[in-house]
Formats: sequence, structure tokens, C-alpha cells
Amino acid sequence: MKIAIIGFGGMAGHHNKYIIPRLNDSDYPEKLEIAGIYDISEERKDVAKSLGLHCFNSPEEIYSDESIKIVLVTTPNDLHLPYVINALNHNKHVICEKPLALNSEEVKLMYETAKKTGKVFEVHQNRRWDNDYLTIKNIYDKNIIGDIYQIESRVMGSNGIPGSWRRVFAQGGGMMLDWGVHLIDQMLEMIPYKITSIYCTYSYQAKEEVDDGFDLQVRFENDLLYRIVVDTNCYHELPRWQVYGKDGTATITTWKGNLVEGKVSKVNLYKDDKLEGIEAGNGFTKTMAKRRNETIDELPLEVIMGDKNAFYRNFMNAILNNEETIVKEEQVLRVFKVMETAYKSAKTNEVIKEII
Ligand SMILES: NC(=O)c1ccc[n+]([C@@H]2O[C@H](COP(=O)([O-])OP(=O)(O)OC[C@H]3O[C@@H](n4cnc5c(N)ncnc54)[C@H](O)[C@@H]3O)[C@@H](O)[C@H]2O)c1
Repeated sequence: MKIAIIGFGGMAGHHNKYIIPRLNDSDYPEKLEIAGIYDISEERKDVAKSLGLHCFNSPEEIYSDESIKIVLVTTPNDLHLPYVINALNHNKHVICEKPLALNSEEVKLMYETAKKTGKVFEVHQNRRWDNDYLTIKNIYDKNIIGDIYQIESRVMGSNGIPGSWRRVFAQGGGMMLDWGVHLIDQMLEMIPYKITSIYCTYSYQAKEEVDDGFDLQVRFENDLLYRIVVDTNCYHELPRWQVYGKDGTATITTWKGNLVEGKVSKVNLYKDDKLEGIEAGNGFTKTMAKRRNETIDELPLEVIMGDKNAFYRNFMNAILNNEETIVKEEQVLRVFKVMETAYKSAKTNEVIKEII
């Protein structure tokens, strides 16, 4: 099945080099052939040519080629809407990179068009299959450290906002749209409860017109507090995940490629009569003293490996066998509702109490 790519930048390069070949190398019976790319940048066209890819002269050339069944949209965020709508209206199935759009109104418009044209349309929320996320979700689902009352999902860098368009508000820049959309999607997939309130602060350390990070606190109806922190100006990393259960704590520190490392501790003796106090700072404390090892069981970290072909296989099955798409409109709209409420909270510095 032929696929064409619109916007051949960093992420499109990743689809071309890793994601599509991986599906083709798997035992999935249908294969994808990249018919070519369209990009406005001469430099990117040269890169595409050097990789043996055909360069179309216009998006219309792609739309009018009936042998091309799928269009992959990997442009800056503000261009997703026109390309998605045009491709759908020209009878193409469409995969669009995240964030699907700049706001929920655009999201609705895209899905309306997909329904009208009957084409398969899905946003590439690839981080649903991240090993670190699935490993934490497994701890949550199996109640391994008792009832979980707080989750911290944190990504930290010190390289500022990358690239050029990610710094421009009108182009859909900023870290909420860039990383927030992934981490909120993971949260909503993990926690099967309604949200009752949201508080968020944005960071503007880079003095750009868009956020270079944020701290989002989401309260669920079961009282769980889920905190998402994105930082691009931090030189010492905190754990990717810290999960607080009534009977233990789970931490993930390493999430590089397939390697996931961390620690899961579960208490076996809550009140330890033999606990000794420590000197801390200019004082003495038992409260903050390290527990005796005998009172804690270190559990193995059961690493769950995500199926890296799941997204494309599902997309192909949706075309070929009418399978339901995994990433659904109502899920995308809920993620946007959280992002939009977070923005409102950050602007007003208020906790927004709303059932989401
Ligand atoms: N799912 C993921 O893990 C992931 C990771 C990175 C990026 N993304 C998403 O992929 C998209 C692209 O991000 P990127 O990092 O590759 O950006 P990029 O800047 O590297 O690539 C964008 C490309 O679009 C091209 N372009 C600009 N205007 C165009 C136009 N009018 N018509 C056609 N092409 C045009 C640019 O020349 C560039 O080659 C964004 O939506 C981003 O959020 C997703």
C-alpha cells in the first residue's frame, strides 16, 4: 500500500527510517511503500533525494495520484489542519502527527471530515506504547504498591525549546502542545476515573512567547493526584516516574530505548519500633530517618515492553478489515479539554473545578 509524506523533517525521517521499515520487516502481511514526500524546504528535499525518496512538486500531485492510499502529515502543528482536511477530501486515509491540531475546534473539524469521507484517520499517539509508561500502568493496574494516591510523570531537559516553529505560538509551539499532549494522553489511558479539578503553571524561562515547560496537577474523582512536569531548563534530572502507593513507592529513572530501570519498594512493617533518629541539618528527626532494610521488600520491576508496530498495524487493519482505530476522537478531545483547562488555570492562577 502506498503512503506519501507531507513535511519531511525530523519526525518524518523517523517514520521513514525506523517506524515504516519495522512494520515491513514484521510478519504483518501488508507492506507499506513510500511513494514520496512533499516539503517546501530545498534542504529537506535534498535529504529525501539522498535517501532515494521521490519528491513531489506539490501536495496536489499527491492528492491526484490514485495509487497513493495513505497520507502521513508531519508538518509543523499549525499546518496539520489544512493538509489533513485536503487529504481526506481527496479520498486518502490519513495519519497525522501529534498534537493533532491547535485546539479542539480544529480536532472536531478534522473528525467531521473523516466521517463525511469515510476514510480512516488517526493521530500518532505513539507514546501509548512506551515501555516506561506501560511498566507504571502495570503497577497501577495490579495494585502492586497498594492504593496509589499520587503519580508524578516528569520529563526534563536542559536544552531549551528545540527548533524554530516550536517557539512560535501561532505555529502551535510550546511544551504543552509538544510533550503535554503525550503525557496527558498516557494519564487518561491509565486512570479510569473522571477529573474533578486542574491546576497548572507554565514556565517562561526562555522568554519566548510560548511555554518552555509546565507543572500540571490533575485531581481525579477517586482523589488521586496526577502531576505532569515538563522542564527544558533543568540541569539535574529527577526520576521519569515517581508513584506513591499506600504501601510502597515505585520509581523509574531510566527510559532510554528499550532499557527501563527503577525501583519498587513495599513496606512489610509499617510501624518500626527499632527505628532510630538521625541528625539532619541543624536538628534531629525520626520522621525523615531512612527505614531499616528489614522493614521493606524490594520487588522486581516488571518491565512491560510496548508493541512498537501496534499503531501502524491497527491503522492498516482499520483500512483493510474495518478494525476500530485505537486512538479515538473522544480520547483526543479529552486530551485537548485538559490542555485547554490547564491553559485557563495558568492564565488565571486558579484551580479549575470541572468534571472532565
Ligand atoms: N510522535 C512523536 O513522538 C513526535 C516526535 C517529534 C515530532 N512530532 C510531531 O511531528 C511534527 C513535525 O515535527 P518535526 O520535529 O519533524 O518538525 P521539523 O521542523 O523537523 O519538520 C517539519 C517539516 O515540515 C516542513 N514544512 C514546513 N512548512 C511546510 C509546508 N507548508 N508544507 C510542507 N512541509 C512543510 C519543514 O520544511 C520541515 O521539513 C509535529 O507535529 C511534531 O509535534 C511527533
